[in-house]
Amino acid sequence: RASKKLEEYVIDMKPGTADILPGLQTPVLGYNGLFPGPTIRARRGRAVHVTQRNQSGRSLNVHLHGGVTEPQFDGHPHDAIPTGAERLYKYPNVAHSATLWYHDHAHGETAQTLFAGLAGFYILDDPDDKHLDLPQGDYDVPLMITDRSFNQDGSFRYRFDLDRGFRGDTILVNGAVAPRMKVERRLYRLRFLNASNARAYTLKLGNGREMIQIGSDGGLLPAPVRRKEIPMEPAERVDVIVDFRQFGVGSKVILHNEGGEPSTDAVMRFDVVRATGSEDAKIPQLLREEEELPEVNAERSWPLTFQGLAGGASMWQIGGGGFNEMRIDCRPRLGSTELWTWRNLSQRTHPMHMHGYHFRVVSVNGKPPHPGDRGWKDTVAVYPNETVVVRPYFDYFGGLYVFHCHAAEHGDMSMMGQMEVV
Ligand code: C2O
Ligand code: CU
Ligand code: CU
Repeated sequence: RASKKLEEYVIDMKPGTADILPGLQTPVLGYNGLFPGPTIRARRGRAVHVTQRNQSGRSLNVHLHGGVTEPQFDGHPHDAIPTGAERLYKYPNVAHSATLWYHDHAHGETAQTLFAGLAGFYILDDPDDKHLDLPQGDYDVPLMITDRSFNQDGSFRYRFDLDRGFRGDTILVNGAVAPRMKVERRLYRLRFLNASNARAYTLKLGNGREMIQIGSDGGLLPAPVRRKEIPMEPAERVDVIVDFRQFGVGSKVILHNEGGEPSTDAVMRFDVVRATGSEDAKIPQLLREEEELPEVNAERSWPLTFQGLAGGASMWQIGGGGFNEMRIDCRPRLGSTELWTWRNLSQRTHPMHMHGYHFRVVSVNGKPPHPGDRGWKDTVAVYPNETVVVRPYFDYFGGLYVFHCHAAEHGDMSMMGQMEVV
């Protein structure tokens, strides 16, 4: 088994139904017809090849969010799989262990296809993390958080909102409304992903107990960070350890979303059922060494704006001008780092995301970022009137990739740029 160099998957992108509401079936468009799609577990140093067969009736493509891939396998919005066709995606798994996800990225239609259900986890493990003794197997739980609204018949109800993006009245975790999970009195690793179109969450455990953040988008943090509240913009991932030994057997621990509408408050519930023999489990003091980065080779500044257009139309923009396949906004050098300044000149939050590479957050309004944001990131919240400086590292592969706002409606409405790493 150790000599296995490649894992192969075949996934059908097709309509299906999900049991979300009692007594009703919800039509979805999903990977293998499922929402969420199947979780792919990959291992650093071993490639994964996924054949995606498009049986959906529309043009789709597949993006591995947070993945380091050659550009032809990244899922650039213009690199579509026509319906009836299939496409082989090759994922080399060369980067750090991390919680990734794959989702549709059809040009101008991602808000619809993501909403319809085309999203799944891709967990990249690294055998070198073994010594950390983090919770594994049944105790390592990916949790995909999304919001939806429903019609009477149980189907998803989408309402286009160019300004804020879609916001549903019901929170789903792994496709279920306010699910309950039985947990033992021990440590768990929970991998949160905000796979919503545009809703942000602030996660908080019942009784204000601490969660111990160990990772973010691009993998493990240098050291654990204790948090009582965890804000998550669309596409962000936060890995935490929750010590359920702080609760008695029989406790019902609610995971809340603070600050949203009342119907979005309860995210899920953990029911502590019994004690297990892992009472001596420890949380490591250090998780990962911080690597030296190559010097900064260029500085760029990107205003984030909302532009009214002639004829009453308007669109979200990066750096002036809408997304255009022919336009290449910058050409970073392979192997270099740069300083990118996101300047939010609008009244909405923009979760800014970069394909193909990761960045460090350097500053937020001139101050150091929250310790939970000090690992590798691929998506960062830029709040209204905020200036966030990030330092991308253009390592591994060169080529053409996009960067964009991950509020899906904003990205579709032109809030996207292109870089060619040369
Ligand atoms: Cu989730 Cu263009 O990415
Ligand atoms: Cu991405
Ligand atoms: Cu945006």
